[in-house]
Amino acid sequence: MSEALIRVEEVAKGFRVPSVRRDTVREHLLGLLEPRQFRRLEVLRSVSFEVRRGESVAIMGRNGSGKSTLLKLLCGIYVPDRGRVAVGAPITPILELGVGWNPDLDAIDNILLLGTVMGMTLGEARRATEEILAFAELEGFANLELRHYSSGMASRLAYSVAFKAVREILVLDEVYAVGDARFRARCEERYQQLKAAGHTVLLVSHDPRAVSLCDRALLLESGRVAATGTPTEIYAAYMRDAAHPAQA
Ligand SMILES: Nc1ncnc2c1ncn2[C@@H]1O[C@H](COP(=O)(O)OP(=O)(O)O)[C@@H](O)[C@H]1O
Ligand SMILES: [Mg+2]
Repeated sequence: MSEALIRVEEVAKGFRVPSVRRDTVREHLLGLLEPRQFRRLEVLRSVSFEVRRGESVAIMGRNGSGKSTLLKLLCGIYVPDRGRVAVGAPITPILELGVGWNPDLDAIDNILLLGTVMGMTLGEARRATEEILAFAELEGFANLELRHYSSGMASRLAYSVAFKAVREILVLDEVYAVGDARFRARCEERYQQLKAAGHTVLLVSHDPRAVSLCDRALLLESGRVAATGTPTEIYAAYMRDAAHPAQA
């Protein structure tokens, strides 16, 4: 049995969020006169799991269950309120779309920007530019500013950069939520190559096909890992969980 590359122990994370809903313009204006009220939203209460080197793990859970928060804790973007996160190798994340982009720069400069943010040297990013554009099928848009890209084009570029930049652990948040069927198929192929090469992958997705590519899955529910199992088992558990009304 290989070593645990990622270890998450009893991690808790909450946020301070406004407690008063202001839906109308009038409510907003009146609200400006009084101090805002906040409450604590305990997103992750006690999350524990391990990922071994070379494993691919899908994280499932309904919207707001804390999947993105968990990934950000792994990447060091958030610090846990309690518990411990240990990651034993470099992480290359694709988090929310647009994070790390500069909309006023063209695709080539954004590849250099995002590639270096993801851990490539400038030289590596330069040398990989053509290949990244080709994978994204965006050669014809190399000098177009990102602000004129469609969200599908921008995400294709983000995945292409991350697939090229990945050193050890790849973290994908809702990767299959975007891109057309052709691009998805190419992502799948690339994903299989990365797995074959021994990379560790963490994937958040609601897509049964994407989840089925993983070795193992876990279900986040009420701030905890409610279940771990095969992708098929956890997808079924997720569908059962999603059938219940959302808890407040
Ligand atoms: N920086 C933040 N500040 C306040 N609330 C946040 C922040 N990040 C996430 N949340 C809240 O935490 C909950 C979980 O969010 P998230 O981790 O994005 O869920 P998921 O990815 O599973 O849909 C949501 O209710 C979200 O609004
Ligand atoms: Mg999310």
